[in-house]
Amino acid sequence: MRAIELRARDGVDKLEFVEDAPKPVPGRGEVLVRVYATSVSPTELGWYSSMNWSNEDGTPRAFPIVPGHDFSGVVAEIGEGVEGINTGEAKYGLLSFYRNGAEADYVIALPREIAPKPRSLGHLEAAAVPLSGLTAWQALFDHANLTSGQSILILGASGGVGSFAVQFASWSGAEVIAATSKQNNREFLLNLGAKEVTGYSSFQHFSKKVDVVLDLVGGDVQNSSWSTIRAGGIFVSTVGGPLPQEKAAAAGAKGLFFIVTPNGKELAKIAELIDSGKVVSQIQKVLPLKDAKAAFEEGLSGHNRGKTVLQVSS
Ligand SMILES: NC(=O)c1ccc[n+]([C@@H]2O[C@H](COP(=O)([O-])OP(=O)(O)OC[C@H]3O[C@@H](n4cnc5c(N)ncnc54)[C@H](OP(=O)(O)O)[C@@H]3O)[C@@H](O)[C@H]2O)c1
Repeated sequence: MRAIELRARDGVDKLEFVEDAPKPVPGRGEVLVRVYATSVSPTELGWYSSMNWSNEDGTPRAFPIVPGHDFSGVVAEIGEGVEGINTGEAKYGLLSFYRNGAEADYVIALPREIAPKPRSLGHLEAAAVPLSGLTAWQALFDHANLTSGQSILILGASGGVGSFAVQFASWSGAEVIAATSKQNNREFLLNLGAKEVTGYSSFQHFSKKVDVVLDLVGGDVQNSSWSTIRAGGIFVSTVGGPLPQEKAAAAGAKGLFFIVTPNGKELAKIAELIDSGKVVSQIQKVLPLKDAKAAFEEGLSGHNRGKTVLQVSS
């Protein structure tokens, strides 16, 4: 089958498009999915080093690795013992980062990682949802326990995760302050549901005011935004590892970093929101599978608006 393979450590230069990758065979409890589209998370190749290039059991991970851990596709085969899933069903999902990903004609998924594809979306739009949508969902509702009436500052609001976070937070009744470095993202963010749009250098206006900060940028932007959290608030980040607990303590707030986990049940809820027209999937660009390397390079150059999607099959 066709696939993108990461042949060695050290990132984008080690990606290759091949046409003779072995087609995976579903084992007990597994599902084989024919991939129609997968989305690009530009920083993904760096995540394997934070997993120590190991398998889930700690043993060294073998190359090649197929990247791209979210997908939209159709169930092609069912392994022994799988119930409630049938061949021919359209599914979307987020796969464990410890297994091969979906930049390939076929991928193995576990039933708990997948959900029915949103009916209102084609495969390209659906593939932009699982990783970014779940990261935003888990940040807001599983970690920050965001509720109606609270205020939230979202840093990196126009990117893949941020564009979902703005929509989910707004849908939940929170007051959303969206932060972006680009003035021309203003209308885009207001249309997604932000009440206010700000740059990264104007946080003094929100001093000790917000209930929740969602940091999707890290570095200096993360450092300077601690001033905005109110005592008793929650500062959640997806970037750069554990947060400096002395900063959280000084602000009287809780600070936590987390890594998204596959969750078919949450994806089913997100699909409902999409099908009811409350949330939209934001695609920046669509490229063919063979151009994955260019998609990673462009994504890493930064300032993305929504997701880049790789079309695997039409
Ligand atoms: N922990 C987890 O489980 C998890 C899961 C998914 C993603 N992540 C991480 O979360 C972060 C956001 O992911 P994403 O997929 O939303 O990324 P993305 O689509 O690239 O968006 C990141 C946003 O950051 C903003 N930004 C600010 N300063 C930037 C700079 N110097 N260079 C580039 N962008 C800059 C950009 O928006 P403006 O131009 O508008 O400022 C950009 O849209 C990434 O670091 C990713 O690795 C972590």
